Amino acid sequence: MAKRKQTTELLNYGVKHIAFIMDGNGRWAKKRMRPRNFGHAEGAKRIFEIALDCNKRKIEVMSCYAFSTENWNRPQSEIDYLFKQLEVELKKKIPTLMKENIKLVTMGDITRLPLSTQEEINKAVNETSANSGLILNMGLNYGSYDEIIRGFKNIAKRIEANEIKSDDIDVKMIDNHLYTAGYPPLDLLIRTSGEMRLSNFMLWQLAYTELIFTPVYWPDYTPEQLELSLQEFSKRKRRYGGLDNE
Ligand code: FPP
Repeated sequence: MAKRKQTTELLNYGVKHIAFIMDGNGRWAKKRMRPRNFGHAEGAKRIFEIALDCNKRKIEVMSCYAFSTENWNRPQSEIDYLFKQLEVELKKKIPTLMKENIKLVTMGDITRLPLSTQEEINKAVNETSANSGLILNMGLNYGSYDEIIRGFKNIAKRIEANEIKSDDIDVKMIDNHLYTAGYPPLDLLIRTSGEMRLSNFMLWQLAYTELIFTPVYWPDYTPEQLELSLQEFSKRKRRYGGLDNE
């Protein structure tokens, strides 16, 4: 009898759009008696490893909170290091993103970032723009309040220009004025490091998202951890305010 081929197909368990609040880099480093930046360097690598895994699973969008509008309150040396690390990783990873057909996009106002970081981001975004696999959506100088205010201002401008009426405003219209316009609804949010907060991340998009808070620090969040999170997601019953069909 022919031996059956062992397949280890990676499943997405129905997740089209996944998001991560990548927390715990500092504590991960502290546990190892290393400086916080050591944790950020390891955390930056994990973003791309997890993105590759999401891509293999045919998840459509991975959104991640790489730098928030509040992270400017950190010491300048840490901010500088974070952006340098992002540059280093992007430079290294563009060939892989191309080979794996991953498209990089950002959400947030990146014009406040160091020029060299903006250049590296723009390069990666332009080079990968025609890729049709996973959309890796990086929140950089991103905050939900900012995103919603920006969306409302654009809607208000369209009303002033008589393109639309205030009565036309509905959920779809607001969706279409956010950074995530056109992406599938957010199915699953994972926050690492045991903190249970949303920290101004994708507040509008999270209305019916399943939430997982894992104690694992972000640098320890491997593809095996992702598999566990997705299995947990697959056990959730999503009712969207309705009733179970059983
Ligand atoms: C949280 O760890 C991490 C962040 C500040 C955001 C995510 C950053 C990375 C994954 C590193 C790569 C950097 C970029 C810009 C892509 P923390 O410092 O809050 O950890 P702690 O809560 O243990 O102190």
